[in-house]
Amino acid sequence: MPRYAYVNGRFAPHKQAAVHIEDRGYQFADGVYEVIPVHRGRVVDEALHLDRLEYSLGELSIAMPVSRASMRLIAHELMRRNALTNGFLYMQVTRGVAPRSHPFPKPAPRPALVMTTRQLPVPSEEAIERGISVVSTPDQRWARCDIKSISLLPNVLAKELAASQGCAEAFQIDDEGYVTEAAASNAWIVTHEGTVVTRQLDTDILSGITRLSLQRVIEDLGYRLEIRPFTLDEAYTAREAFITASTQYVMPVTRIDERIIGNGRAGILTTALRQAYTQHVVEQGEGADRFAAS
Ligand SMILES: Cc1ncc(COP(=O)(O)O)c(C=O)c1O
Repeated sequence: MPRYAYVNGRFAPHKQAAVHIEDRGYQFADGVYEVIPVHRGRVVDEALHLDRLEYSLGELSIAMPVSRASMRLIAHELMRRNALTNGFLYMQVTRGVAPRSHPFPKPAPRPALVMTTRQLPVPSEEAIERGISVVSTPDQRWARCDIKSISLLPNVLAKELAASQGCAEAFQIDDEGYVTEAAASNAWIVTHEGTVVTRQLDTDILSGITRLSLQRVIEDLGYRLEIRPFTLDEAYTAREAFITASTQYVMPVTRIDERIIGNGRAGILTTALRQAYTQHVVEQGEGADRFAAS
């Protein structure tokens, strides 16, 4: 259990940290969030995450609660207080507190800012080699999945379906049979020709920061990359499959529904990409300031 959380201007003991019952995040899910990975006490791809936070807020006409520089200072002070080494920083911004009424309150309330940290264990080599199992489920989300909204009910239901079947993730399928993304990660396959495939960015998926960084890694390594939709059937018969997310890095997918992918173990290209992405994390972290005790 982390010791502290940050809530609207102060560091509070985590157990007692609370927001107002008329916070619009609580009543309308009127807010956005970020999950930023922390590796060996260093923040990974921080600028890209803050860019996405600003984008999500802008799309909802919510102001940044404090300056970008202050966001960084608060985040790093919280990491220091919680001695965070490996895990993630969680940032949530909501439109603020106002009497319950759907339209934006006028004048705009002060946006509410909450930050927490979570320490995560580093997965074993065996767990990565085994990969994860995934279920497929219709994509029931709204038409602006590019906004990292705290309104996550369809994702919660998809994850619960996965958990009920002993799976770690759910591939969400659009009306035409294409995989949009997973419930909390981006979806990728590797074809039998060795081409890496992931869906294009549009309003149907979140622009994952891990996806973005991995794309650069793939280009640097000279692997073939196709940015296009792929169907669930194509995923079933792919040579390899994997997901990307801030807390997962590159995680092999070795089963989708009842279909075993490849030989049922992490694919060769997926393993190479995980190693190269991890290298990016280490190098990226070395360029960042160190704040937490390790
Ligand atoms: C729906 C969805 N897609 C993709 C991602 C991956 O994004 P990132 O790589 O920035 O963690 C997430 C992460 O939480 C997500 O919730």
